[in-house]
Amino acid sequence: MEPVHPADELRADVRARWQSEDAGARYAIRRFRDPRAAMRDPTLVERILDLHGVRPALKPVLDVPCGTGRLRGVLERRGMRYVGADVSPAMLAEAAGGKDAALVLADAERLPFAEDSFDVVVCCRLLHHLQDEDVLESVVRELVRVSSRMVIASFWDSASWHAWRRRVGLRRGEGPRGRRAVSKRVLRRVFDESGAGIVDFHHSFRFVSQQTFAVALKRAPAAERDPAMHRVRERIFDIDLPRAPGNLGPAGS
Ligand SMILES: C[S@@+](CC[C@H](N)C(=O)[O-])C[C@H]1O[C@@H](n2cnc3c(N)ncnc32)[C@H](O)[C@@H]1O
Repeated sequence: MEPVHPADELRADVRARWQSEDAGARYAIRRFRDPRAAMRDPTLVERILDLHGVRPALKPVLDVPCGTGRLRGVLERRGMRYVGADVSPAMLAEAAGGKDAALVLADAERLPFAEDSFDVVVCCRLLHHLQDEDVLESVVRELVRVSSRMVIASFWDSASWHAWRRRVGLRRGEGPRGRRAVSKRVLRRVFDESGAGIVDFHHSFRFVSQQTFAVALKRAPAAERDPAMHRVRERIFDIDLPRAPGNLGPAGS
């Protein structure tokens, strides 16, 4: 029998965690029974979209993993076409809630969408479950690949108060299969290698909340980024072309 790679065991473990028949109902009712806690992520995502002036575009927005569809309302209210993807049929059934929705059973490491399919890709509460860095990298690569512009992804920030308490032993760790905080530096590198630059980070409570959202802009292909090429095209077509996101200034922290 082929030996199982430790990363495969870890990724299978995360995929299996929300597969029970009642996973969707439990997540919707028990995990977020406090309405204030339930609204924290949608409110923060809405604030990020406002800050970046994101409006409905020709391309839809992808919420992966969509879980029970907690972000669907915020995105649809803005007039964005919503597509949700998740690896758990039970979570997708809860997200559908009897209404018409574009929901897809899919693995975040192998999304069944072409490159640049979505205007914005949102990934909420998955990255901190990925204990293996290879898996983190392949999920981020997929998020960036299917987005044509922006990725908004939450992660646990290792510089937060809770993560620090865990590191110094004031709070019990969750073990090798538990959730994992990563540093902003590591996340920047992972996005960078995937072709997107993180431009800002957002927390509900700075230094306290572990849950942090990173906003990354996909870099245009090298030819688009090249200022000389840009000037040539402007001269040929005699129009003002928008600058590629790769030319943005230094990212905030
Ligand atoms: C903590 S829930 C978050 C759901 C939703 N984003 C939210 O914030 O409410 C984690 C979700 O990730 C899904 N999931 C885990 N591994 C996945 C994978 N490899 N691909 C797609 N979804 C995955 C689970 O089925 C579950 O719905």
